[in-house]
Amino acid sequence: MGAVPTVEDMTRAEPLGTSFAPSRRRTAGATAEPADRVRSGLAAAVHALRPLLPAGVSRPRFLRGPRIEVPVDAHPIRTDRLVLRRHRLEDAEAWYRIQSTPEVVEHLPWPVRDREASREHLRHRVRHSRLWQSGDFLALAVEHDGRLVGDVSLHLRDVQPAERSVEIGWVLDPAVGGRGLASEASAAMIDLAFREVGAKTVTAVIEPENTRSIALAERLGFLRATAPRRSSSITFAITPSLLAARRAERTAGSTGRS
Ligand SMILES: CC(C)(COP(=O)(O)OP(=O)(O)OC[C@H]1O[C@@H](n2cnc3c(N)ncnc32)[C@H](O)[C@@H]1OP(=O)(O)O)[C@@H](O)C(=O)NCCC(=O)NCCS
Repeated sequence: MGAVPTVEDMTRAEPLGTSFAPSRRRTAGATAEPADRVRSGLAAAVHALRPLLPAGVSRPRFLRGPRIEVPVDAHPIRTDRLVLRRHRLEDAEAWYRIQSTPEVVEHLPWPVRDREASREHLRHRVRHSRLWQSGDFLALAVEHDGRLVGDVSLHLRDVQPAERSVEIGWVLDPAVGGRGLASEASAAMIDLAFREVGAKTVTAVIEPENTRSIALAERLGFLRATAPRRSSSITFAITPSLLAARRAERTAGSTGRS
């Protein structure tokens, strides 16, 4: 454990995303190019009109600002025991069952959804299959033995290459909990974030009472970041070098070296 860098070490060697340094966050208009100003003006207008728009109408892509070089589209990922793949509406019943489990939603900002609302929620997740611009969200179904058992997601927070960051989310059906499946699915998503999205940091924002989620983050090698993004939650972070150190430590542990 001694060889694993602290968040402060990581910050020096490998700057964390702007998420952890509010003072470095670009303030609207301060250094904005004319095109950015036009875009943010239009975005503000769309935001103001939003309550008048039909449900499901979202901000047009051209208003969403800079992009990563190449969009990352959802594609199936196989791990030892799982398949991560795009969500499907056919899983609506399984998704409803997971979502209506009290211990699943206890620490999530999700309302208790009825069948219809849960189906609508899944419909959105089916569409969230591309990371390209800031704010994009990609959700993958976690399939085990041919059935839906959870969800892992990435939210593109900062697209600037040097500070690119994504926030990970994880949900697992408690019926298959405690076997390392969430760890396995999340590790695959972190690899996707580093290898395909080019993220420099993956973050996880967790309520202090969500002990299973905190244990999962720590098992994966995340460290508590120094400045939380949301005051009532703890922000955890992992970088490629921290992940490599954690994996090397695991390998050394499993081969009996100190
Ligand atoms: C957070 C959540 C995904 C964690 O699920 P989990 O079942 O605890 O996590 P895993 O599937 O990785 O299982 C870990 C357990 O399996 C054990 N395990 C067995 N084999 C394992 C393996 N190969 N790898 C890792 N862990 C393994 C671990 O020791 C651990 O055991 P423990 O629970 O006795 O400590 C789950 O509690 C959940 O969905 N919560 C609700 C949604 C939520 O709050 N999401 C987070 C919002 S921030």
